[in-house]
Amino acid sequence: MSLLIRKAVGTDAETISNLGKKAFTHAFGYLLSDISLRKYLNKVYGTEKIAESLAKKSNTFWIAELENTTVAFLKMKWNFGLNKKASETEANLQHLYVNPDFTGQRIGETILKRALEETKERKTNKLWLEVFPEGPDSLRFFIKQGFAVHGKYLHPFDDFELEYDVLVKHL
Ligand SMILES: CC(C)(COP(=O)(O)OP(=O)(O)OC[C@H]1O[C@@H](n2cnc3c(N)ncnc32)[C@H](O)[C@@H]1OP(=O)(O)O)[C@@H](O)C(=O)NCCC(=O)NCCS
Repeated sequence: MSLLIRKAVGTDAETISNLGKKAFTHAFGYLLSDISLRKYLNKVYGTEKIAESLAKKSNTFWIAELENTTVAFLKMKWNFGLNKKASETEANLQHLYVNPDFTGQRIGETILKRALEETKERKTNKLWLEVFPEGPDSLRFFIKQGFAVHGKYLHPFDDFELEYDVLVKHL
């Protein structure tokens, strides 16, 4: 079976939305109450939200397909700095999700490598992301891919806050 990686287009919005909801719930759903989880999934991974996001020039999404099944997606937000302000030389890896039925098969590594090729074509010299420290697998994955822990960031939900690790890779 060969893995196909391609840039996503508008018609991929629903597929990305479904995979985002499934993978986020699998990895981090236990951290949130049912109500907070539902709200978060609709806000961040709702089909309309993903469609809007896909249409913006400042973002690029890639998806990975195995035998016509979408098994992963990655979203890059270009020219967006660690301080959450515009920066020509920084990019934010906002989502990298592998279908939980397909993790541990180098799919995450392969789609990340593809996205990194494009950072070279742009002026990006710093790539950063936020990851839940409660997800030790993902932290281990990104450290292996050359990211280093930069600090912590508190993300507010409705009724509580979660602490993320901020990771940075210098390119
Ligand atoms: C983190 C994630 C993107 C990694 O993708 P993946 O395709 O499973 O990882 P790969 O097969 O490319 O790499 C495997 C390596 O990553 C780590 N790893 C991460 N998750 C793993 C898993 N579920 N099973 C096995 N290895 C895993 C291991 O360190 C492994 O390294 P090893 O060769 O030393 O064992 C994927 O597991 C995922 O989507 N997790 C949930 C969502 C998430 O945390 N996203 C990141 C924050 S946005």
